[in-house]
Amino acid sequence: MLAAQAALGQQGWSAATLRAMRARHGGAPVEVRGLSGPLLVLLDQADVRRFYELPVRTLALDAPDKYRALSLLEPTGVICSHGDTREERRRVNDEVLAADRPVHPSCEEFRAMIAQEAPALLRNSELDFPPLRRTVARIVRRMVLGDAAAGDEELARWLLAIREESNWMRMRKRRATAAEALYRKAAARVEEYAARAEPHALTALARNHPAARGPGAAALDAVGQAHHWLLALDAVAPIVARTLLLLAAHPAEQEALRAEVDGGGAELPRLRACVEETLRLFPVVPDLLRVTRAETEWGGVPYPAGTAVLVPALFHQRDPEHVPAAHQFVPARWLRSGAAQDIRMAPFSHGGGRCPGEHLGLLTAALLTAEVLRGHRVTGGRPAVDPCRPLPGILASAGIRLTLAPR
Ligand code: HEM
Repeated sequence: MLAAQAALGQQGWSAATLRAMRARHGGAPVEVRGLSGPLLVLLDQADVRRFYELPVRTLALDAPDKYRALSLLEPTGVICSHGDTREERRRVNDEVLAADRPVHPSCEEFRAMIAQEAPALLRNSELDFPPLRRTVARIVRRMVLGDAAAGDEELARWLLAIREESNWMRMRKRRATAAEALYRKAAARVEEYAARAEPHALTALARNHPAARGPGAAALDAVGQAHHWLLALDAVAPIVARTLLLLAAHPAEQEALRAEVDGGGAELPRLRACVEETLRLFPVVPDLLRVTRAETEWGGVPYPAGTAVLVPALFHQRDPEHVPAAHQFVPARWLRSGAAQDIRMAPFSHGGGRCPGEHLGLLTAALLTAEVLRGHRVTGGRPAVDPCRPLPGILASAGIRLTLAPR
């Protein structure tokens, strides 16, 4: 349910329901009925900490509901894998995405692509979400598959069709077979692009990874990881739209970014903090779902292997009982030392399942936002955001329109 929800930009559990559950059960884990069986919801910070600390071999990412939602689109993706294969695939993801480096080795090439594509967005005084989404899709295809893929909207339609099929709970055999055939077609096209991609493109890096040339290369499917990368990087469009809308409502914050944006560096720490704060308020993945592969104990009670466990991350990172100014846009909280490890906030999760594309996602979103802000001020937009009131729980990206004024 939840990864699919994230892919669709839908919200997870309502905060009011979770607050009521926490009050009724004194913070103990609560077992509810999930889509395919019982689901243990963690509402206490100590349980949440254990969730992040447990190794992925004990608390696995490929929970049945998530696997069902993603396995048509990325059957060989790390998130759908387990055991030694998962560890190998995770290593390839970490190294190709440069998970431990704020600035990706291909940053200069990626930055040049963004600078080439962004002007198409900035010809008018208004910036609507659909053109932003199309521009991000071009940038993402260039980053992942190389320049030849920039205009391949057919591939994008195939991937979208497969993603939509995944949302059917019980798919007829005929539909599943058709979706698998479409996946094979899309995967073959991804391989073709990878074979001739410029060396800085992510699929070229995957193809040249030592593990992609060893004896287990076919089973590993390094290039096949790109299906998730395309999906994940598409999220940059709603993230940039929401960040710019929040900056329109916070002109002092926008002004404070000036020096950094004009300076031309790639690290952009203050702007990245704004993007992280946007993700805290409006996460792409509002709920984290796992499945246990061994007996585990939660709130002092043992649960058998196979238990589905959920951290409602959005609820926790907007929880006024633990997070100061929980419903306000306060980017500076991300500049404090230790913020990235603060488990109250988890837009990229924590521990062994933490997002390997965190830095790359932040870098891409910050570079594109900087490109808009370099020549413009965002003076307003819709929907209206009142900086003096708690922010809404949902900010649907599809209807966002930004008003730009030249600087
Ligand atoms: C831009 C914003 C992004 C956000 C908010 C985000 C968030 C997340 C979260 C919360 C998870 C953990 C999911 C779970 O536990 O079920 C995750 C996993 C993952 N993300 Fe991201 N992500 C982003 C961008 C990216 C990018 C740009 C890439 C690659 C290009 C990427 C690749 C991955 C992969 C491969 C996993 C699976 C990790 C594993 O199974 O160990 N993400 N992401």
